Amino acid sequence: MWYTTALADSIAPGHYEKFEFEEAVILLFNLDGEFFALEDRCTHDDAELDGGDIENGCIKCPRHGACFDIRTGDAKSAPAYEATDKFETRINSDGVVEVNLS
Ligand code: FES
Repeated sequence: MWYTTALADSIAPGHYEKFEFEEAVILLFNLDGEFFALEDRCTHDDAELDGGDIENGCIKCPRHGACFDIRTGDAKSAPAYEATDKFETRINSDGVVEVNLS
């Protein structure tokens, strides 16, 4: 099921925003004008990724520093080894980013 988040123009390249839905809490990233959505959960110890820095296309967990590829959700550095969930995104005709949480 698709859920609306924010106007694409409202999240600048290199930034992200958090959205909370019943199904999942997500971070929506703008990487060079492309939008990606990951679950706001570090697979090392279930910490929030929100508040982490973006470095080289990855979000860095603010707790112990594991990095997750924003495009795929894959864990790229210890102490996390499993991917975090990634969700499909699209931009609707009103310019709003939608996320598929099903
Ligand atoms: S909880 Fe994220 S690296 Fe430990």
